[in-house]
Amino acid sequence: MGLREAREYAREAVLKVADAVSGGEVVPIDTAHVSGVSYLTIGDHGVEFLKRLASLGARVSVFTTANPAAVDTGGVLEVDRRTAEAQREIIAALRALGVSVVLSCAPYEFVLVRPRTAHAWAESSAAAYINTFKDAWTDKVPGPLALLSAIAGFAPRTQLYTPEGRRPTALVRVAFKPRDPLEAGIVGALIGERLGHGVPYVSGIRLPDEASRREFAAALSTYSSIVFAVIEGATPNWAEYARAADPGERIEIEGSDVQRLLRCAGVPDAVYVGCPLADVETVLWVINEVARRGPARRPVYVSTSPAAYKLVERQARAALRLNVVILAGSCLVVSPHARRLKSIATDSAKAAFYISRLHGIRVSLCRREDCIKLAYA
Ligand code: F3S
Repeated sequence: MGLREAREYAREAVLKVADAVSGGEVVPIDTAHVSGVSYLTIGDHGVEFLKRLASLGARVSVFTTANPAAVDTGGVLEVDRRTAEAQREIIAALRALGVSVVLSCAPYEFVLVRPRTAHAWAESSAAAYINTFKDAWTDKVPGPLALLSAIAGFAPRTQLYTPEGRRPTALVRVAFKPRDPLEAGIVGALIGERLGHGVPYVSGIRLPDEASRREFAAALSTYSSIVFAVIEGATPNWAEYARAADPGERIEIEGSDVQRLLRCAGVPDAVYVGCPLADVETVLWVINEVARRGPARRPVYVSTSPAAYKLVERQARAALRLNVVILAGSCLVVSPHARRLKSIATDSAKAAFYISRLHGIRVSLCRREDCIKLAYA
């Protein structure tokens, strides 16, 4: 089978899914982002699927990026031999398929998606980010379907690719001001938990910085099936969405709700920052904060993308002496390395959700400054 046949195979597969989920309608896409890159999450069947697609001669037809892997590119995380080997096979297959192996769940750092363009992004936090903060249109596309859509050049035209499907269905009033990424994430988690689905129109909130926007989107899509919220004053075209709103539900989020989710489960084995992957500013903040206090007693892990890591490689290598471990292109959720730990403190609502469920690890959810202090407790 050659490139043409492989593309035909992908087109047929996407059309079949479209028959089931969007009345056969499809939408051309500008970019795709695939999840299910870690061997821990896809296992041997996933590896075989990717290798088979690559051996058929398939190639993506739109710019396509890939999520983090089970192993970091700096070789810091220790994993068993089979995981390391399978991870190499996965990356090789993705490269053969023409995927840009950026190993980041925050590809919006370098893929400048424009408002009202269509995409097939499989990572829920990234899908929620570009819908909410760019008004770029994507559904939370399952990983294999995102890859097949990238090869075909189109995706099933589900509701979020239509103006009607993007009308706000609930009004959310946030009655307090998130001061940091943790509080922004908890607001996202609470909205998700209370509504479960639909498109919230959120008023009264101003997210203080980029890290807060990332945390909000990640937590919202972790605690619900929601991957699009209209934030008054922040989402492009928000006024138009406000006029189109058809709200069936109204809720309010208060400061006391946020305090309820903060929890400290004692002194942790390690501290974890960077879910979704941290930007350069956050990486440097952690390194400087630890450097100010001297070497930490417990490891402080920070996930970032390989691209961001390159920019701070000198500082990252030096930080190992401070017990700060920078993970390029991996995270403690998708790497089996996390299973060596019994308890973690993190400032990420998404990491707290998945690390406890996937790895059975005790998790404290605390402010970033408090997490760092715990590394010295
Ligand atoms: Fe990214 Fe890992 Fe969190 S892939 S969103 S850092 S779970």
